[in-house]
Amino acid sequence: MTDNNFNPSVEEWYYPDENVRATSNAPDYDATYTKAMGDIESFWAERARSLEWFEPWDKVLDRSGAPFFKWFVGGKTNIAYNALDRHVKTWRKNKLALIFEGEPGDKQTYSYWRLNQEVNKFANVLRSMGVKKGDRVTIYMGRIPEIMIAMLACAKVGAVHSVIYGGFSEQAIADRVEDAQSRVLITCDGAWLRGNIVPLKETVDKAIAKSPIVETVIVVKRTNQPVNMEQGRDYWYHDLMTLPIASPRFETQVMDAEDPLFILYTSGTTGKPKGILHTHGGYSVYISTTLSWVFDLKDEDRWWCAADPGWITGHSYIVYGPLILGATGFMYEGAPTFPYPNRWWKLVEDYGITVLYTAPTAIRGLMRFGEAWPNRHDLSSLRLLGSVGEPINPEAWKWYHRVIGKEKCPIMDTWWQTETGGFMITPLPSTALKPGSATRPFPGIDIDVVNEAGESVPPGTDGNLVIKQPWPGMLRTVYGDPDRYVRQYWNTYAKQGWYVTGDSARKDKDGYVWIIGRNDDVIKVSGYRLGTAEIESGLVSHPAVAEAAAVGIPDEVRGNIIYAYCILRSDYSASEALIEELKEHIRHQIGPIAVPSKLEIVPSLPKTRSGKIMRRVIRARAMGMPEGDISTLEE
Ligand code: WT7
Repeated sequence: MTDNNFNPSVEEWYYPDENVRATSNAPDYDATYTKAMGDIESFWAERARSLEWFEPWDKVLDRSGAPFFKWFVGGKTNIAYNALDRHVKTWRKNKLALIFEGEPGDKQTYSYWRLNQEVNKFANVLRSMGVKKGDRVTIYMGRIPEIMIAMLACAKVGAVHSVIYGGFSEQAIADRVEDAQSRVLITCDGAWLRGNIVPLKETVDKAIAKSPIVETVIVVKRTNQPVNMEQGRDYWYHDLMTLPIASPRFETQVMDAEDPLFILYTSGTTGKPKGILHTHGGYSVYISTTLSWVFDLKDEDRWWCAADPGWITGHSYIVYGPLILGATGFMYEGAPTFPYPNRWWKLVEDYGITVLYTAPTAIRGLMRFGEAWPNRHDLSSLRLLGSVGEPINPEAWKWYHRVIGKEKCPIMDTWWQTETGGFMITPLPSTALKPGSATRPFPGIDIDVVNEAGESVPPGTDGNLVIKQPWPGMLRTVYGDPDRYVRQYWNTYAKQGWYVTGDSARKDKDGYVWIIGRNDDVIKVSGYRLGTAEIESGLVSHPAVAEAAAVGIPDEVRGNIIYAYCILRSDYSASEALIEELKEHIRHQIGPIAVPSKLEIVPSLPKTRSGKIMRRVIRARAMGMPEGDISTLEE
């Protein structure tokens, strides 16, 4: 249960250790915040100068086409140049970029040199297959080093990657491939999860049957079970990588700062996912600055962001951010509890992880198994911890702090979104913490909590979380749908020109922000973002369903779970078998993460007179709570 709206008394402050404070890279928060807000352009320009540019920019921020903002206009760069090429010119070529452990226990390491060689080889392969600057390449893979190689190779070629999380189903892939008009797809035979094989290639085959635009499929061999390889369409990665064309030398494509780097689909308030578009220039500056200051990465660190590269967290803080900083990252393929619930803690000990970044749902899930599992391991290498994806309830925060961090690791609770590119509201290592609050905005970020009229609400009052100034890591548009970009993010406070986050929040008397949750029809299930409309349109695409409603219900471990209600067409009747069939249908339409925990067949749904489903009433009923104002209800 997310009891995050509780406001701790003075005793609940957690002050960082003197040592953490004294050794951190981050500048003093108050002074830097004030200075940055005085002149955001100079602030970000100074940060941008820590990267290498082929040519400098003429203008830091172009507001003329607002809300289509442009950053570092005229600057020439490539994020992969900053992540790889510039490091292999220095001693850093010998440093580990990536340490990997597979779920079965296999191990791999990549120095910056080796990673760059592999990326170059694959970039040559892609180019030889006709992939050019601006082409969209879909990536649907497990959590293995080759997913990073694939993303970085796309960046080097100047292609735009669209990574689809491996938990999505064939229909979700087909829709995204179609939306991006992507002719090349990179996948694996399978991925290891809980000792089983997730049959990625099989799912891709089904997706391509629905969306035949894909002409080329490149398959990484990971799990070794037999898969269908279609002559002339499907190629083994390891075969391509040994061809003479796969030279380890590649000239990284020069890109404009504003050229697109990737599309990442995320759920919104309609059934159709939005392709969030990020760029090479501003995004590089934003994610490297935030990662450096918030997680304070140093050369001796071993950084583990336990997210999946298929989410924004992975894009920004597994792949691009750590590499730009020249850090050593760790990646683990499988489930946290495989073969036993100590797997993560064993990995921390085995690899001497110093900074761990994960999601509240994972912490709550592992917490259930008790302290004996982490206590079996030496976790003393850890110096900082992080949390992302949903509000962390104080109980989980304190467990993470005491049992994992041994009361010496500050917890960086980072609030941000796919759209923001990087951390927006977050502590720095020196920040005094309150469990459950993401604390204050990052320097250069102008956030506020406002009412419908756009007035700042007083401390302790709920309101809409808005961002009042552009920032370099912001999304640039919704791919192929600029109107949706404007409508979704900028129309609510069009007069003021503010970005609306879709979250409700409150500030306390110290200016600390407490995120309450989404105030739109987006549900967070185990940190995954799902739209009620997406689940509903998945359900009504089944011939038995006339109408459907999905709502999020609070859950102890997963934050929220989905309850769905369906009205059947007249020629169908309710049965256990049909309910199972509908759940299976969602598994194929969206993926296992979207399968409702409870699915009920109902004769009617509460609606307004205009026919809009009242999810608020459904939720209240499902939770056995008062229904609130039902004056508009016409059932
Ligand atoms: C939504 C964005 C950012 C990467 C992963 C999620 C919720 C995210 C926090 C946090 C409270 C959080 C918000 C936000 N959220 N981080 N630290 N505290 N809520 O990205 O899938 O785009 O979801 O996640 O509701 O709007 P996403």
